[in-house]
Amino acid sequence: MKKKILVTGGMGFIGSHTVVELLQEGYEVVIADNLCNSQMATLDSIEKITGQHPIFYCIDVCDTDAVTNLFEKEKPIDTVIHFAAHKAVGESVQLPLKYFYNNLLSLINMLQCMGAVNISGFVFSSSATVYGNPAALPVTEATPFQKASSAYGSTKQMGEEICEKVAAVSNIKAIALRYFNPVGAHASGLLGESPSGTPNNLMPYITQTVKGKQASLIIFGNDYDTPDGTCIRDYIHVVDLAKAHVAACKRLLQNQHQSYFEVFNLGTGNGTSVLELINTFEKENGVKVPYNIGKRREGDTAVLYAEVNRAKQDLAWEATLTLEDMVKSAWEFEKAKVI
Ligand code: UFG
Repeated sequence: MKKKILVTGGMGFIGSHTVVELLQEGYEVVIADNLCNSQMATLDSIEKITGQHPIFYCIDVCDTDAVTNLFEKEKPIDTVIHFAAHKAVGESVQLPLKYFYNNLLSLINMLQCMGAVNISGFVFSSSATVYGNPAALPVTEATPFQKASSAYGSTKQMGEEICEKVAAVSNIKAIALRYFNPVGAHASGLLGESPSGTPNNLMPYITQTVKGKQASLIIFGNDYDTPDGTCIRDYIHVVDLAKAHVAACKRLLQNQHQSYFEVFNLGTGNGTSVLELINTFEKENGVKVPYNIGKRREGDTAVLYAEVNRAKQDLAWEATLTLEDMVKSAWEFEKAKVI
């Protein structure tokens, strides 16, 4: 019988790509999403790509009754992948309670509701933001956390701690996946990143600037202690990231996890500067990216990239798509968008 996976936030950027990979690997998928930062049309895109229509619940996963009802109707659910969360770093500094309330309450509610119906497998959407400004590079899973500079970052640090402490004393087996910088889009051109309002992240800002939706990109500082002065990040293709979630589910379903709480860095292990990303984008897509150099953005770390051996060994996963794939797919998706 097909294993059934609940994907909260399954209509979002990483969630929707993960739903596609799960369906293509033969899993049955149930999506729970309140569409606060995603569109219904994503469901049609998922269906066009996979030929399958996932079950969809338009619910807020902070709502205990709604989640309990979903678990009852869809039983048995084998594993939960929990993406549903707010993710705008800057907004979280201005509106910390919005982030603490939503990101922590949804997590607590999911774990409580899972406990009530004895679902054990839980994959938590974490972030490299937990490392803050690390003392040494590359960062391994053992690199200590630094104090979070945003409420968003705090919710990821606290989220991991909640998972760990709950898993220690219950049936729950949790895997936290720490994403570095997810970018790119599905090869079909049907799924990608559609931030509402002005984008916060570099790649959607680049694509929207080239399309003319934004006047010019501002590079946040070129006076960092890096070869070209701009910040270095570990960009990872969203389809690679999605496949890592399938690997994490398999690990839980096949009882291969070695402890009740595991964490994995998900990156490529390569650092790319802002200017390198822009240059690759221009070269691969044959376009010009208009940009100006601006001031440093508060809270930015100069260099961040992952050590990825643990995921290679234990999840039998590694990123295979290149920076060229990332910039080309991101631009293809943006070009095809009507607005
Ligand atoms: N940048 C610019 N101009 C822009 C946007 C970004 O120069 O308009 C630069 C940033 O200064 C940074 C790099 O591009 O050097 C990447 O910035 P992003 O905002 O795309 O990504 P971050 O590394 O700041 O943050 C990302 C995710 C967070 C996550 C974090 C983990 O967006 O959710 O990685 O380190 F927490």
